[in-house]
Amino acid sequence: MSTCGDAWFVDTIAAVPQTLNVVEHPVLADRLAVLRDRETPHGAFRQALFEAAAIMAVEVARELPVREVEIQTPLEATNGLRLRDEVAVIPVLRAGLGMVEGFLRLVPDARVGHVGIYRDEEEHVPVGYYERLPPGLPDLRVYVLDPMLATGGSAVHALDHLKRAGARQLELVCLVAAPQGIEAVQSAHPEVPIWTAAVDRELDENAYIRPGLGDAGDRVFGTV
Ligand code: PRP
Ligand code: URA
Repeated sequence: MSTCGDAWFVDTIAAVPQTLNVVEHPVLADRLAVLRDRETPHGAFRQALFEAAAIMAVEVARELPVREVEIQTPLEATNGLRLRDEVAVIPVLRAGLGMVEGFLRLVPDARVGHVGIYRDEEEHVPVGYYERLPPGLPDLRVYVLDPMLATGGSAVHALDHLKRAGARQLELVCLVAAPQGIEAVQSAHPEVPIWTAAVDRELDENAYIRPGLGDAGDRVFGTV
């Protein structure tokens, strides 16, 4: 329809919503420092990832819509608020699995789907290998969990698939994001909020995030 130089393109770029949310919290920063430390063994890494995810869950869930309900306490009638929508958490395997429990502590009734994606080691492009999604996706608030947003290829792939499967209310929750990954997601899925604990400096020649925390999947599962 158009080229980069004309007004339509410039207006469209200017209209891309600011979807990036960087969560600031002293305990989250503390957990992130543990995750970044190369001396942290896999058990402590897994625990810190759980705790960081739990803090992210509290922040992300602030936006959940509620509905008013009438409640009968043991003493009298009153009003309360319940979550309006059902929630689904969808970890991107493998590393996203380490964030699931933190979310379930806050939203124990959430459904859990799984999307298996790995990065091809040569080209760094995403390769999907597994998908098992909950029913009723169009009506669910869906949190896609993956601690690392590097090139953004895996996140864009996951969001593409989830949209094709019917998801309409999607949010991406990571912990460490590279500028390239943020741009990739914002360009492919401009309406999807991105939540992260940190925006790191850059990607290196192997598409690893710098300073980053290394290979998250290997560190969670002790496969380094
Ligand atoms: C990691 C990470 C993300 C992806 C990010 O997974 O958990 O899914 O890389 O990189 P990208 O933004 O460039 O796509 P990895 O491919 O290492 O798979 P694994 O968790 O199974 O080890
Ligand atoms: N995947 C990881 O686990 N770490 C990175 O730095 C980049 C991709």
